[in-house]
Amino acid sequence: MARNKQISTKPTTLLLFITVLVGVILIFKYLWASSSSTSVYTSLHYNWVRENNDLVTLNPSLFNHSTDKILELKDKKDKIPERLLSGTFADLPAPETEWEEMAPAPVPRLDGASIQINELFYVFSGYRTLDEVHSHVDVYNFTSNQWGESFATPKQMANSHLGMATDGRYIYVVSGQQGPQCRTPPVAETFVLDTQTRTWDSFPPLPEPRYAPATQVWRGRLHVMGGGKENRHTPSTDHWSIPVKNGKALEKTWRKEVPIPRGGPHRACVPAGDRLYVIGGQEGDFMPKPGSPIFKCSRRHEVVYGDVYMLDDRMEWHTMPPLPKPDSHIEASWVLLNNSIVIAGGTTEKNPVTKRMILVGELFRFDLDLKKWHVIGKLPYRVKTTQAAYWNGWFYITSGQRDKGPDNPQPKKVVADLWRTKLSL
Ligand SMILES: *[C@@H]1O[C@H](CO)[C@@H](O)[C@H](O)[C@H]1NC(C)=O
Ligand SMILES: *[C@@H]1O[C@H](CO)[C@@H](O)[C@H](O)[C@H]1NC(C)=O
Ligand SMILES: *[C@@H]1O[C@H](CO)[C@@H](O)[C@H](O)[C@H]1NC(C)=O
Repeated sequence: MARNKQISTKPTTLLLFITVLVGVILIFKYLWASSSSTSVYTSLHYNWVRENNDLVTLNPSLFNHSTDKILELKDKKDKIPERLLSGTFADLPAPETEWEEMAPAPVPRLDGASIQINELFYVFSGYRTLDEVHSHVDVYNFTSNQWGESFATPKQMANSHLGMATDGRYIYVVSGQQGPQCRTPPVAETFVLDTQTRTWDSFPPLPEPRYAPATQVWRGRLHVMGGGKENRHTPSTDHWSIPVKNGKALEKTWRKEVPIPRGGPHRACVPAGDRLYVIGGQEGDFMPKPGSPIFKCSRRHEVVYGDVYMLDDRMEWHTMPPLPKPDSHIEASWVLLNNSIVIAGGTTEKNPVTKRMILVGELFRFDLDLKKWHVIGKLPYRVKTTQAAYWNGWFYITSGQRDKGPDNPQPKKVVADLWRTKLSL
């Protein structure tokens, strides 16, 4: 009896299973057809990530009017005006800007880091390609307008996604990713460079390793917050600080501070007097492909945002007006000038239809007195993780990953280019 029952129920279960499976496939197919013209594989990958990712909460307000646009387009599903959403739709009107091309850096780099100390510009490590990382510093002199010396970084130091800040002589290099592709986990090791003697020293490691945390020396302490957690993807809101003087930590351990309201890596972190600003960033990032011995990068769902937070001297966070558009990968793409923060390029929310990445080609200004954003210029091309500096009336950018061309904002070539433009605010 029992056996009979088993035999008789099996085909039914199987049939039900197949029906459900076919149904699910049809539904997915419909969704892909209506939302994307990219290959099924890309869409499948994207949807899978989206459906399975409970680490990231979508903030509907961020999608604001672009959501309406998607819905509108879904209605006319067979006539998606691909050109309308080619990606350039994300470009904002910006004044034409004249750029002068200078001597390129000795190497191309993406996801590097940089610090300007007076007339010298220290440009650190980064990827040359996804398969090759740098472990040296190139130095540019704004007075002679030449790339001069290069020197090595310590072996244990990470190569990309570094947290970095200076007090005017010492450069603190915090945590980050060691090695190429999407190597996990990050390292917690932290180092100090004395720029006068070109010597490296060790420093208390972060309590936990982080990818691209917001980092700044502010009111006598080195602050590190946000970033990506050990799996590279999960945004962290943790915030730590440690007192520093003359390149030394004055205490042995990091202190837990008030968490940042929103987590994630690749943000600009700018000190302005008694206030500390954290600008843009993202939740989620590429992760290593499961089981890949080389930690091959595989794309995961990301939310890029334009949030701006300000920490005051009572250690309270305030929300400031958001960037003109979501922007990430700008940790070294800013300067502070005349009580304004100037930000160059970055990467914004992906194209809602094609899901392609979209780089940013504008120059933004946040006026700290008026608390107002302006689009003040256009870069030579759209570029992310470009390194910015300002010297003697000139605004400089070097390195990063640029777009495919004026009509295609997707990321392509990793560059060594150095450009400058006259800037006064
Ligand atoms: C949403 O759109 C409105 C109108 O375009 C705008 O005023 C508002 O700032 C936007 N909100 C966000 C969070 O982008
Ligand atoms: C930068 O270049 C100028 C002009 O050549 C030179 O006088 C100066 O010493 C250089 N600065 C440093 C720190 O090497
Ligand atoms: C800073 O602002 C002052 C006063 O508005 C102006 O005279 C000066 O040129 C500005 N400097 C720069 C570098 O923009």
